[in-house]
Amino acid sequence: QTEAEENLRSPICCIMGHVDTGKTKLLDCIRGTNVQEGEAGGITQQIGATYFPAENIRERTKELKADAKLNVPGLLVIDTPGHESFTNLRSRGSGLCDIAILVVDIMHGLEPQTIESLNLLRMRNTEFIVALNKVDRLYAWKAQRNAPIRKTLKQQSKDVQNEFDRRLMEVITQFKEQGLNTELYYKNKDMGETFNIVPTSAISGEGIPDLLLLLIQWSQKTMIEKLTFRNEVQCTVLEVKVIEGHGTTIDVVLVNGVLHEGDQIVVCGLQGPIVTTIRALLTPHPMKELRVKGTYLHHKEIKAAQGIKITGQGLEHAIAGTGLYVVGRDDDVEDVKESAMED
Ligand code: GTP
Ligand code: MG
Ligand code: NA
Repeated sequence: QTEAEENLRSPICCIMGHVDTGKTKLLDCIRGTNVQEGEAGGITQQIGATYFPAENIRERTKELKADAKLNVPGLLVIDTPGHESFTNLRSRGSGLCDIAILVVDIMHGLEPQTIESLNLLRMRNTEFIVALNKVDRLYAWKAQRNAPIRKTLKQQSKDVQNEFDRRLMEVITQFKEQGLNTELYYKNKDMGETFNIVPTSAISGEGIPDLLLLLIQWSQKTMIEKLTFRNEVQCTVLEVKVIEGHGTTIDVVLVNGVLHEGDQIVVCGLQGPIVTTIRALLTPHPMKELRVKGTYLHHKEIKAAQGIKITGQGLEHAIAGTGLYVVGRDDDVEDVKESAMED
């Protein structure tokens, strides 16, 4: 390992797409959780965050025998809602991420919020991988739990393979109409110019090893500079909520830098800047969703990238979507307040 490789932060991956394409279910499948079934109407209404340690990703991808060299400590995945009314949350999520998964339902092809998400990603030149989800819904599909996609496709009947090819071609054509070249990832000879498609099922787990491996490999290959850990704190408020036993808390994504218990922070508030002290730095357990109430781990300090719940006085007026700033030893609080209110 080179020095640069030792000093990488976890990539932040945003999962986007039209409503009900299976974004949350894909994460449930990787986490071994049941978040989606607990959602009101099965609809995601908030941004979520889940941390996947490298060892879990290694375990999940080992069947691909890629000798996956994982230099990053893990992967932080941001779940976003696909419902049309949450454009602001999709925009916030895509603004935070290094790479994205754009989920398309193989039975539906491109839909309005697929295109909206695509445009948000293109606007920021964000790399993304297309997950062509729900392959298990193809008529007469024979599921093979958690299998790599090529292995399971080979074992499908000729009819299923033809139906898969037909729907895949349709999606590739639809992307083409949006001015985008896409190709099945293992046939893609022009990575970088042509975007990768990974067929998946959130129900059977098929294609998930491929998706995880490609995410990590592509991040490590193309974003070493961007993923190099920096001390300067870069942090965004996702949600403001009251949690029993903790009072008002803010959920944040720490993109870079380190936060410590006791740090003096400034966040943008409804009635002006809020200057307070981090009382507690909490995270859910690895592979658990930040937005779902559960037990929390307490930390003295946390290094980026991570989804964090912060408790502190006065945070009830914090505004979601704005930045969190740390008042450093040499900083003037007034300057930091000004930066915070510019958000
Ligand atoms: P929003 O967050 O509300 O935009 O939806 P979403 O994209 O997170 O989709 P969600 O995970 O809520 O899944 C929507 C529905 O599709 C649920 O009933 C899931 O069980 C189902 N579903 C998701 N993925 C798959 C899949 O791969 N195969 C099958 N058969 N069903 C799936
Ligand atoms: Mg969802
Ligand atoms: Na849904």
